[in-house]
Amino acid sequence: MNAPLLFSSLKIRGVEFKNRIFVSPMCQYSSEDGLPTDWHLVHLGSRAVGGAALVVVEATAVSPEGRISPQDSGLWSERHAEAFSRVTRFIKEQGAVPGIQIAHAGRKGSTPVPWDKSSGKNVPPDKGGWIPPAPSPIAFDADYAVPREMSVADAEKVARDFGKAARLARQAGFEVLELHFAHGYLVHEFLSPLSNQRKDAYGGTLDNRMRLALAAAESVRRQWPEEFPLFARISATDWSPGGWDLPDSIALAGWLKALGVDLIDCSSGGMVPHAKIPLGPGYQTPFSEAVRREAKILTGAVGLITEPSQAEDILAQGKADAVFLARELLRDPYWPLHAAKALGADVPWPKQYERAKA
Ligand SMILES: Cc1cc2nc3c(=O)[nH]c(=O)nc-3n(C[C@H](O)[C@H](O)[C@H](O)COP(=O)(O)O)c2cc1C
Repeated sequence: MNAPLLFSSLKIRGVEFKNRIFVSPMCQYSSEDGLPTDWHLVHLGSRAVGGAALVVVEATAVSPEGRISPQDSGLWSERHAEAFSRVTRFIKEQGAVPGIQIAHAGRKGSTPVPWDKSSGKNVPPDKGGWIPPAPSPIAFDADYAVPREMSVADAEKVARDFGKAARLARQAGFEVLELHFAHGYLVHEFLSPLSNQRKDAYGGTLDNRMRLALAAAESVRRQWPEEFPLFARISATDWSPGGWDLPDSIALAGWLKALGVDLIDCSSGGMVPHAKIPLGPGYQTPFSEAVRREAKILTGAVGLITEPSQAEDILAQGKADAVFLARELLRDPYWPLHAAKALGADVPWPKQYERAKA
């Protein structure tokens, strides 16, 4: 049997990944004032112990009003960088690479944590929430707040905030940074004509709608060390007529590549509440395949990847350079160790667990 590709190493810039299994960013709604808590150390640490090559911290806001819920993680001060350094240290001790996704929630911000069913779709300003900003004053859905339309100065500040968060991420010890340009959050709201109806330099043409994404990427690449990889997660399609779609994504990927983005993490959706998404195993992998082929850039596939042989096939068929797993790694943090066994790869287990390997 040939050595499985899933357990082959990958080098991007100066960083070596021991395999192709990446922990997809997952909000935990367990931060205090944006700071990670013990929950983060144990949750992220377990996935590093479990053998993933890259552990990406959840969508982490570049400013307080960039959070989804008030319990979201943030990276807007030295205090946040210092708090995250405990998490990055532990992940590195396990031989994994620590990464973080930096984000701004836009019109989908100021919402309660998902398990709080009592307080409607928005947390009001007098209860720790805020009026969410967006490119245009169009609510995500009827029961969401109507956002405040951002000024040009607001958009310029968001790009600067992404850059500042990159500097803080470096200080915290992260070695991979992922820009969150997907799932109907702020940058995606600028990209998609469904949420962006501006008449200025940030709206209308594709170039104008991409302006914030490119400015944020440029600002980040200036702060983020040359030797460290930069990823961007995009929604490759809105799954909605008149919305953002695959050809736009391929164009965006080309521009991002020119600005020093190394890998496109190909997700989809999140822009409109009632999109018809054909869910099924690997349903977003065709986007990764197309972006990889057309924009000639490294890609990650994500979405309902749960089986070792499925992940291996995606790589073997040239559809992606790495796989991001989310829910399967919540069900089983040791999935990479189990997948190695299933595919016949001999990977080291943590020395503390060696007696269980047999
Ligand atoms: C609990 C949870 C939190 C999530 N939070 C984020 C996030 O912070 N950023 C992001 O880009 N995607 C987020 N996602 C989406 C996942 O990263 C992933 O793209 C999606 O779950 C599909 O992959 P899966 O089928 O392997 O779960 C989240 C998903 C879950 C289940």
